[in-house]
Amino acid sequence: MTKLVGAIDQGTTSTRFVIFDDLGSIVTYHQMEFEQHYPHPGWVEHDPHDLLATVQSCVEQAVRKLEATGKYHASDIAGVGITNQRETTIAWDAETGEPLYPAIVWSDGRTAATVHQLAETSKEGVNALQHICGLPLTTYFSAVKLRWMLDHVPAVKQALDQGRLRFSTVDTWLIYHLTGGSKGGILVTDVTNASRTMLMDIHTLQWSQDAINFFGFQGLQLAKIVSSSSVYGNIASGALEGIPIAGCLGDQQAALVGQKCFSVGEAKNTYGTGCFMLFNIGSEPVLSKNGLLTTVAYQLGSDKPVYALEGSVAVAGSSIQWLRDNMNIISEAKEINDLASQVEDTSGVYFVTAFTGLFAPYWRDDARGTICGITQYTNRNHIARATLEAACYQSKAILDAMNQESGKPLKSLKVDGGMSNSDLAMQIQSDILGIDVDRPAMRETTALGSAIAAGLAVGMWKDVHDMDKVNTENSTLFTSGITDEKRQEMYAGWKEAVQRSFGWAK
Ligand SMILES: Nc1ncnc2c1ncn2[C@@H]1O[C@H](COP(=O)(O)OP(=O)(O)OP(=O)(O)O)[C@@H](O)[C@H]1O
Ligand SMILES: [Mg+2]
Repeated sequence: MTKLVGAIDQGTTSTRFVIFDDLGSIVTYHQMEFEQHYPHPGWVEHDPHDLLATVQSCVEQAVRKLEATGKYHASDIAGVGITNQRETTIAWDAETGEPLYPAIVWSDGRTAATVHQLAETSKEGVNALQHICGLPLTTYFSAVKLRWMLDHVPAVKQALDQGRLRFSTVDTWLIYHLTGGSKGGILVTDVTNASRTMLMDIHTLQWSQDAINFFGFQGLQLAKIVSSSSVYGNIASGALEGIPIAGCLGDQQAALVGQKCFSVGEAKNTYGTGCFMLFNIGSEPVLSKNGLLTTVAYQLGSDKPVYALEGSVAVAGSSIQWLRDNMNIISEAKEINDLASQVEDTSGVYFVTAFTGLFAPYWRDDARGTICGITQYTNRNHIARATLEAACYQSKAILDAMNQESGKPLKSLKVDGGMSNSDLAMQIQSDILGIDVDRPAMRETTALGSAIAAGLAVGMWKDVHDMDKVNTENSTLFTSGITDEKRQEMYAGWKEAVQRSFGWAK
């Protein structure tokens, strides 16, 4: 009997548990959306209990489906990997294990003033800690969110003063509870998640005392930093009781692994709630001069870590959900494609989807969503098309920065994520980039990446060379169908539109 491996994918808008076989094919899965809380403009919160509860439900439901096949039993699952929304910050009480505040989600923009205050304390400004953690000070990263909590939530401040404040990202929260919680739960975070907090030194893979002091976090309880692929502990209860949790990666790093970008120069772009391009740069952490982030891509077992340059776009699929939930232009995400394909182009309309500012390579927290070029002729088809184009233009800006950084232009881009289901969006992406866009048949690459990490740790696969047989089903290649002149004209309009989006949030 072939062995199976499970992957918990705790994303920004939904949670999944996916069960793969040794060829990387999906045997079965279960997925659940959970509630997004928007208490003020620009704020985004999750209830940490919802994140855990949806994980537990997805595991139970998927295992039920697995056993209903009659072919497999839960005990055929050799190990479980975890992948998660990154940077989202949970402050909890080390004594009770209870959250002290809702989880502040990565895309939340409330910390703009905190960023400016912190940047003023260093002559390097927002780059005060780049030499340690590879990241600029922005609203995006966990430590900035925790600093905001300490300044605004008395219960969090009191817990720090009393030495019982535990800070974690979502991986730690889930692993602790799945391995027993207050009854022996394990407190770990993997190197990729830790590399998004601003508190880890990406050269030593240890918490940096300088970074901790910079944020004023002396006395904070932090999880132990571990490799992305090793046995951390066993699941304590439920359908998978006794099965090891053996892999963990932040969702974007997991997609890089799931796309098998194991060689220097390979890159992938994932279009989920946001959109994230990661470029494998090998075993040395190069710092970017073009607005890209340096991050840990993965560490397998006790091997040296591999690093990536990353370009992050805050809003991709979430702008389609905005058209659905706030504008009522569509009733389901996939309908955007019917609308957008009614027109050949946007007729000069650009939609800069800067709902909480712009991330890479612009890094402008004062930008806000801007639709320009509207005429009496404009209709919802043009707006729909401009929404798809927005993620593609931002990806173009990031790819240009990466090409500059590496000096060797990328020839083909591997893609995945919910929005990559849109043939139209991927054709537009190829047109705008002027290179091929390569989409695998099995697009749950985020889940697959964490399954690979776990499968390697429990010996289901020997090493990365063993991956040649994993997820090899035919992929779809999108090739640019427009001229360079047209591409440049379209992109020039985008750059103008981006300028118009600056300066709205004071
Ligand atoms: N057919 C489609 N065409 C265009 N967009 C789509 C389509 N199907 C899904 N989407 C978009 O994909 C997004 C969901 O992507 P995905 O499932 O990768 O996200 P997720 O895993 O829940 O969140 P995260 O970004 O945290 O990973 C939604 O925002 C939705 O708007
Ligand atoms: Mg996802």
